[in-house]
Amino acid sequence: MASKLAVVVLAAGKGTRMKSSLPKVLHPLGGRSLVECVLDSLRDVSPTHRLVVVGYEAEKVKAALSHIPDLTFVPQTEQLGTGHAVQQVIPHLADFDGDVLVLNGDVPLLRPSTLRHMLDMHQTKQNEATLLTAQFMDPTGYGRVFCNDDNVVTEIIEHRDCTEAQRQNRRINAGVYCFQWSALGKILPHLKSENDQQEYYLTDVVKDLSPVRAVDVDDAQEIQGINNRIQLAEAYSILQDRIKDEWMTAGVTFIEPDSTTVDTTVRIEPDVIIEPQTHLRGATVIGSGSRIGPGCLIENTTIGRDVTVLYSTLSDSQVGDNVRVGPYAHLRGQAVVGDNCRIGNFVEIKKSTLGNQVNVAHLSYLGDATLGNQVNVGAGTITANYDGVKKHPTVIGDRTKTGSNSVFVAPVTVGEDVTVGAGSVVTKDVDDDSLVVARAKQTTFPGWRSKRYSTTDDKPSQ
Ligand code: UD1
Ligand code: CA
Repeated sequence: MASKLAVVVLAAGKGTRMKSSLPKVLHPLGGRSLVECVLDSLRDVSPTHRLVVVGYEAEKVKAALSHIPDLTFVPQTEQLGTGHAVQQVIPHLADFDGDVLVLNGDVPLLRPSTLRHMLDMHQTKQNEATLLTAQFMDPTGYGRVFCNDDNVVTEIIEHRDCTEAQRQNRRINAGVYCFQWSALGKILPHLKSENDQQEYYLTDVVKDLSPVRAVDVDDAQEIQGINNRIQLAEAYSILQDRIKDEWMTAGVTFIEPDSTTVDTTVRIEPDVIIEPQTHLRGATVIGSGSRIGPGCLIENTTIGRDVTVLYSTLSDSQVGDNVRVGPYAHLRGQAVVGDNCRIGNFVEIKKSTLGNQVNVAHLSYLGDATLGNQVNVGAGTITANYDGVKKHPTVIGDRTKTGSNSVFVAPVTVGEDVTVGAGSVVTKDVDDDSLVVARAKQTTFPGWRSKRYSTTDDKPSQ
């Protein structure tokens, strides 16, 4: 039977090198925070306990993780080093008997399969500790791992504590470890802070455990730590390549992958075409046969099948099947568009629901509106939904046609099969099957100019 597993994620540090008021582990990477990425990489190891050590801006970190079930937050009120951070979990694991996987909260690119492999190695070799390592071309800043033969680790020395000769060792510590808790628990309380930073280093425990083995990762990019914004940008680009490769393998076309970004949290069906300069973010879903871009920003939006979206911004919205959007449309704040609709140039839709076969083809604003099916919204139609204090609803029934440049002063309800004259300002409810014209009547004065100037020398200029 596989032994029990507890996981400890270290997320208490400030991340001084980020030069940020946001705790390092909350910096976003492809739609999730760094620490969420780390928690996500645990998918294949099914731990019984998940402990997150929090300190700097602990409340913010807890709030950002509040949607994840079954996490235990362990406070580290003073950040005295990674060893000190793990010491804080001792009371929580008093009766625990099994292995403990410890991960730095700033290693967001780990693959679940890598952690699984490391844990298998740890358990089959019966190591007291196992750690992930890699050979880095530029190991600057990382702890160096020293081994004898058979990958048995003798010591880890931080970059700043290394001699020049020791720095030539390019084998680095990833900050990802497996321990037999019974062995680690005994030596953890005795750590010393005799190093350049006067911190309690978790890495010092390897001297007192045996055997400790290093597992080299196949893909060194996976264990890149994030200490500054340059490394954050590098990690983002690695993640982007991975995400787009996955979607291309699954049947999605990217016309120009390098100019396109896709969050981890996005889902794309096969036979979608993503055109250049398109950015898909948050909980976005794109249905098959759709063509998105060029030039789109789509965030937390569900798009149906066979939809085209061109040079447009969509957020927190829903679009049905076979809809054309753009160019230059803006859907936001719970815009819900039915099937077979056309949302054209310079149209903004906010918190509104449109039925099927609705056309809003040019220059309109619909806010807090509900439209039935087959409504034709004339060019320049506006819902005046805000009276300066409150927002009010507009309702427009099936098959109604609004004239160009009409304004609906909400709250107002317009029935089915209504025709609204161009330029109308509709302030009162309109019954089904009516024609409504609400504008000043046209007055024409025939021969006005010639009469006006016949008695004076004051002629209009040409
Ligand atoms: C650490 C390792 C180093 C390794 C590197 C890999 C130590 C002493 N060094 O160095 O060998 O190569 O990671 O990325 O462990 N944290 C706390 N409490 C603290 C201090 C840190 O929770 O008191 C957390 C941080 O939030 C962070 C993680 O521990 O998520 C690592 O801390 P960091 O300061 O980034 O360690 P490194 O100097 O990168
Ligand atoms: Ca680090």
